Amino acid sequence: MANICVGITGGIAAFKAVTLVRELGRRGHSVRVAMTRSAQKFVGEATLAGVTGTPVLTELFGVPGEPHVALGDWSDLMVIAPATMNAIAKLAGGLTDDPVLTTASCMRGPILVAPAMHHRMWDSPATQRNIRILREDGISFVGPESGPLASGASGMGRLSEPETIADAAEAMLASSGELSGLRVTITAGPTLEDLDPVRFLGNRSSGKMGYAIARAALRSGASVRLISGPVSLRAPQGVELINVRSALELHAAVFDALENSDVLVMAAAVADYRPKTKAEAKVKKSDGAWSIELVRNPDILAEVGATRAAGSHPGLTLVGFALETSDAVERARGKLERKKADLIVANLAADSFGKDSNRVTFVTRSGANAIEQASKDAIAAALVREIASLRTTGRE
Ligand code: CTP
Repeated sequence: MANICVGITGGIAAFKAVTLVRELGRRGHSVRVAMTRSAQKFVGEATLAGVTGTPVLTELFGVPGEPHVALGDWSDLMVIAPATMNAIAKLAGGLTDDPVLTTASCMRGPILVAPAMHHRMWDSPATQRNIRILREDGISFVGPESGPLASGASGMGRLSEPETIADAAEAMLASSGELSGLRVTITAGPTLEDLDPVRFLGNRSSGKMGYAIARAALRSGASVRLISGPVSLRAPQGVELINVRSALELHAAVFDALENSDVLVMAAAVADYRPKTKAEAKVKKSDGAWSIELVRNPDILAEVGATRAAGSHPGLTLVGFALETSDAVERARGKLERKKADLIVANLAADSFGKDSNRVTFVTRSGANAIEQASKDAIAAALVREIASLRTTGRE
């Protein structure tokens, strides 16, 4: 059973945090509480101290005699419920001016946030931007849900029910540790192939899937190296980030990383071709057409597969993606064989490109496992489980 810290911030839904704390305790976890000053206007410190049987952290300077990092050190997981718009903004900005934020700032384990606020506050660009930042930082969310709000209005912003939050917390605890001790290298994003100093050939990969896998692998206890093409995402805290631009740079970075990798996930959309030459100076327009001769880039996944088949890196688990416009699973089976991978994640461009959700099938030598439409974070968590089970059953 886990040590869980519940951080309560100041919204009317704070009363539900008492039920959450009791529910987590009922499920066998040890629970401690940190509260902001405004949370104490909605629910009493004595109630939570009574329910948990331990002192509640209500002051920035902690429980007397305990350093301010103690609660973050003790907790396997922190649940912030309810998280107000203000708390979410401060968390995204890295502020630490109350006991909930201070504890979050030095958590050694994952953080689950359960937002609750008026629907217009939830919809505001600032909140949505802060949620994106926090997701990129590896923080998970449960809710909010749609329904009647304290103000009398109705809409998105209700705190999820305590049982739902407890379920989400337990799912996170269950998912951590699956890749514990493993070194996972993930490639993400597009590669850009330069024509001259200002022009390039590229593709529309956003990198979202690869970055979600990096977050899920981190949560599962792996040490993560993220080799990324140019994207507009922030790497989660705790990964080793290697930035690359072209397929050849990606190729070099992957082969450098192989020696220290137990798992390689090729989520990058690697350009299959590059211009034969790159002009040193900007190419000036002329009246005629511009023909560009393209040459093949190495197929990195296939090369790694071939190297492994020849006896190098025998312990490596090799995962590729197949982005198709039709017959994704059939084609993924072909790629699994041709590229000598252990697992191909098959998906359709229409379900995936630039979106936050996707629908995929995991294709291995032992079969196909279809995952229903889900967020890229949920798919990444499922992929981590699939990789963990491949490593325990061995390569078939
Ligand atoms: N990949 C790679 N190097 C390349 C191209 C692709 O390592 N030059 C990897 C991708 O990261 C992905 C997998 O190979 O994991 C599948 O990529 P995809 O472009 O779908 O496969 P191709 O073999 O290029 O198939 P197609 O025949 O559709 O071009």
